[in-house]
Amino acid sequence: MMKQILNRYIKTSGLAGLVMLAVPLMAKGQASSGSGNAVAFTEEELLLGFALFLAATLVIAVLGLLFAVIGLTRVMSGKALINPASGLEESGVQAEESSFWKDIKQKLTDAVPVDQEEKVMTDHEYDGIRELDNSLPPWWKALFYATIVFSVFYLAGYHVFGWAELQDAEYNTEVAEAKARIDAYMASKGGALNESNVTYLEDEAALAEGKSIFNANCTACHGAELQGTVGPNLADEYWIHGGSVGDIFKTIRDGVPSKGMISWKAQLSPEQIQKVSSYIISMEGTNPPNAKDPQGEIFER
Ligand code: HEC
Repeated sequence: MMKQILNRYIKTSGLAGLVMLAVPLMAKGQASSGSGNAVAFTEEELLLGFALFLAATLVIAVLGLLFAVIGLTRVMSGKALINPASGLEESGVQAEESSFWKDIKQKLTDAVPVDQEEKVMTDHEYDGIRELDNSLPPWWKALFYATIVFSVFYLAGYHVFGWAELQDAEYNTEVAEAKARIDAYMASKGGALNESNVTYLEDEAALAEGKSIFNANCTACHGAELQGTVGPNLADEYWIHGGSVGDIFKTIRDGVPSKGMISWKAQLSPEQIQKVSSYIISMEGTNPPNAKDPQGEIFER
């Protein structure tokens, strides 16, 4: 009987194992058919893979539990023994295997049988509840020792030999990788412009375009004359986040979300940000009426 339960359990696990094997393969297929570059998995793919892996693990656990419960109910209700064709054989096997199963259970738990409880009964008693001095289950102790062994390898690996990076270093590596990806993306968009190489554009056409970008997006908070309303005055020499063309470019691209200035990189291309930055600089010193008081540090151009 127990053999059957075990058999079924193994078959189920095998099936779930196949699913688990298929997951990374599927993810891999997706990664290579997707963008055509054979780099690493993207974060979403990894997350998806992990979610599927968890789901598969859950499937194993649930199915295993289900079969175990079904098997147990059958044994307990005596159904498993009722087999007219081979009643004798079945019950013979049953006795043998259940003792085998019992052995395993005994080895795992090292529990004192209920009828011999007196042997491990302590004199501790609380409201009629007596305490047994059972030993710790060996499976639990084994896990505990395993963690100690693991910790030795962990300590040696991470702190002595440096086989793998510690959190800080790992974080820095990932940030550097992400930055490289952003740069590559920016370059692929043709907009390799960034705060360190952006220049002030003087030509009329660029400034006119900058003005129309400003009028379409920015006047609500900075005023049509750049005099400042919700946002600061952009026509004076004072800057909260720096007044160089690179600083202004960066403020517009990344925004100051905590202060109500959004990041414009989704709406405006780097070239457009360069033009609107240039327009803002060209308006410096125009002294619009109702100008908002200066904020930040003075910037000498
Ligand atoms: C929803 C309101 C809002 C809109 C729309 C807005 N800004 Fe701002 N902006 C702000 C606020 C608020 C600040 C001040 C942030 C701070 O205090 O750090 C700011 C700051 C700035 C700064 C930095 C000023 C300094 O002193 O350093 C620049 C440059 C700027 N905005 C440009 C723009 C441009 C260009 C647009 C349109 C593409 C725009 N803003 C649209 C609210 C806005």
